[in-house]
Amino acid sequence: MVYQKIKMIHVFIIILVVSCLCLIISKMNSTEICIFCIRKEGPIFFKKYGGNFLQLPDIDCRKNPPFLVVMVTSSHNQIKARMAIRETWGKERIVQGKRIITYFLLGITNSKDDNVVTQESQKYRDIIQKDFLDVYFNLTLKTMMGIEWVHHFCPQSDFVMKTDSDMFVNVYYLTDLLIRKNRTTRFFTGFLKTNEFPIRKIFNKWYVSYYEYPWEKYPPFCSGTGYVFSSDIASEVYNVSEKVPFIKLEDVFMGLCLAELKIHLEELHSEQTFFPDGLKFSTCRFKKIVTCHFVKPKNLLIYWKALERSLDEKCPAV
Ligand SMILES: *[C@@H]1O[C@H](CO)[C@@H](O)[C@H](O)[C@H]1NC(C)=O
Ligand SMILES: *[C@@H]1O[C@H](CO)[C@@H](O)[C@H](O)[C@H]1NC(C)=O
Ligand SMILES: *[C@@H]1O[C@H](CO)[C@@H](O)[C@H](O)[C@H]1NC(C)=O
Repeated sequence: MVYQKIKMIHVFIIILVVSCLCLIISKMNSTEICIFCIRKEGPIFFKKYGGNFLQLPDIDCRKNPPFLVVMVTSSHNQIKARMAIRETWGKERIVQGKRIITYFLLGITNSKDDNVVTQESQKYRDIIQKDFLDVYFNLTLKTMMGIEWVHHFCPQSDFVMKTDSDMFVNVYYLTDLLIRKNRTTRFFTGFLKTNEFPIRKIFNKWYVSYYEYPWEKYPPFCSGTGYVFSSDIASEVYNVSEKVPFIKLEDVFMGLCLAELKIHLEELHSEQTFFPDGLKFSTCRFKKIVTCHFVKPKNLLIYWKALERSLDEKCPAV
């Protein structure tokens, strides 16, 4: 009996110690854990992804150059989001005499989903695709494919926007602000992040190892949920990209390219117009924003209808 009790206590203590260790390790960051790891040599540089475009949109930018090309990073299963965007802010339209077009950026999955996307591309002619594997880790590759497309096929456009498929984009207000801003070159704007640090907690979604990014601080960058730039920057970034260390966070990578090019981020407006953390919908509020994150396809359709219905109505001044 006594012997059994002692055994129980032993088991209990072992469980306690193991739990404590697990807790400590999960709270530690990678340097602390990696004291005994062998440090590999410095960061790897970005490598341009060769190969041909599998899908290209139907446009000749030399003939009828758009004012703004919106590029949406998307993945194969986000068909609902793509359809909602096509019916709302992504529909080709002219705003204040300026043409705006929206294209989706995709890689491949090596599954039957690829055929579905090929058919979708043939139907809507708004997909830009190369044959890299469409995974989260390849997001930088996906954005750089968009940059390459602008550089090769549409340097005649005035502006380029990169955004995601869970976004509301008020292309009316964006166009208005871009016209008012009256900038044509070396202009880059969005939700500015000027004081960001790599997250070194291993179990965090945004974890970045010291191997991938050995520096303590990120360069200034704009939230990947939506940034806008003059199209000359596409060629400059494409040109400089291989001199820049690779990081899987595409918006930080863009920031590294801009730092190399000595291009400074600028605010589009004196008021906040980009909302990477989302914003509660109201028609009057959404008339004076450029982006809002976390919008489901169903809500996108509702918000957009409300916005379009109220375009000519005045809102009370705030
Ligand atoms: C990114 O795409 C390339 C090309 O298809 C592939 O070799 C690589 O494994 C992909 N990255 C990841 C993390 O899967
Ligand atoms: C736009 O900027 C150019 C110079 O960059 C200037 O000549 C022009 O007057 C400006 N237009 C407006 C409407 O401010
Ligand atoms: C590309 O970079 C080289 C120097 O690295 C420069 O001479 C050239 O003008 C750049 N081209 C463009 C299009 O920016």
